[in-house]
Amino acid sequence: EKGGYDHFMLKEIYEQPDAIRDTFRGRMLVDQGLIKMAGIDDHIDKFLNAKRIIIVACGTSWHAGLVAEYVFEELARIPVEVEYASEFRYRNPVIDKEDVLIAISQSGETADTMAAIKLAKESGAFVFGVCNVVGSSISRETHAGAYTHAGPEIGVASTKAFTTQITVLTLIALQLAKKKGKISTSDFHTYLNELETIPEKVAEALTSNEHIEKVAEIYKDAKNCLYLGRGFNFPVALEGALKLKEISYIHAEGYPAAEMKHGPIALIDEQMPVVVIATKKGHYEKVVSNIQEIKSRSGKIIGIVTEGDVDVRNLADHVIEVPETIEFMTPLLTTIPLQLLSYHIAVKLGKNVDQPRNLAKSVTVE
Ligand code: F6R
Repeated sequence: EKGGYDHFMLKEIYEQPDAIRDTFRGRMLVDQGLIKMAGIDDHIDKFLNAKRIIIVACGTSWHAGLVAEYVFEELARIPVEVEYASEFRYRNPVIDKEDVLIAISQSGETADTMAAIKLAKESGAFVFGVCNVVGSSISRETHAGAYTHAGPEIGVASTKAFTTQITVLTLIALQLAKKKGKISTSDFHTYLNELETIPEKVAEALTSNEHIEKVAEIYKDAKNCLYLGRGFNFPVALEGALKLKEISYIHAEGYPAAEMKHGPIALIDEQMPVVVIATKKGHYEKVVSNIQEIKSRSGKIIGIVTEGDVDVRNLADHVIEVPETIEFMTPLLTTIPLQLLSYHIAVKLGKNVDQPRNLAKSVTVE
């Protein structure tokens, strides 16, 4: 059942090239230069007239929502707010009839997300679901939706659900950008062509597994760990930190790299591993100077870099390469080494990777 892998989590990490392909199969018609998504196309006016999009989710799905915020705003120029479903629900939010609410949930059963959906529906908003489990409560409660088609996710730590959520949300952002006339036909084609290569690039990123396992061996006894990223990769830093916390029980935090100087840099000493997502483009020079600030305080740098990178390699203690892609698609690649790093650290610490303590696969209490 684990297909030869030691854990479901590892199996699911390795399933990501296929899972992402399954997610855009039939929806992205690259030869015709088209995206077809019934859930969006049948309600296109709701999206085109929306003054804003509110995204609600929890945990890893909330991180996918943050990535989507950056992608929607970049491509489709629609204002997006991302909320923890639990907070949204309890803070008397302003919801307009013209708002579109997107709820993201792997299980489709998360109680807080469900409650946020009910609240939005009462206010007359159009509610769209991005779920993985077909026929789940959230997929039934929403007005329309798009499944991620990642296949069953058994490991409690979410992996392929995250990358396929980002894939679906990227398809939606591209479709809306096109319908709103915010991107040229030629850019649209370029993006579809690039998205089609992502599964191969994820597979390439997975080939760093043995190298990542060695890095994990070096840092497995750390008490704390920081994850830094900027722009599209800031949410990936949050997700990397969450993965480490939940399966290895090492305290980890994610920050936008530029926030370090506003406080967290005080934490840096020779005991502190700092995972920095430092891919090309994406404010690369700024991230390099953030790395210099950490090195000068003796922090240990694990850089997630673009293939062939030189500058970060010269500064960092370790680098893990991912293939080059268009900037807004980098989260689909930079996530992979962070999943593997957490996985190997947790395994080396003897933790129950698939069933971490205190956690359940779907959280049906509020
Ligand atoms: C993290 C994780 C949780 C879930 C969260 C939302 O690895 O599994 O943070 O992402 O409980 O769950 P869903 O997406 O099912 O609503």
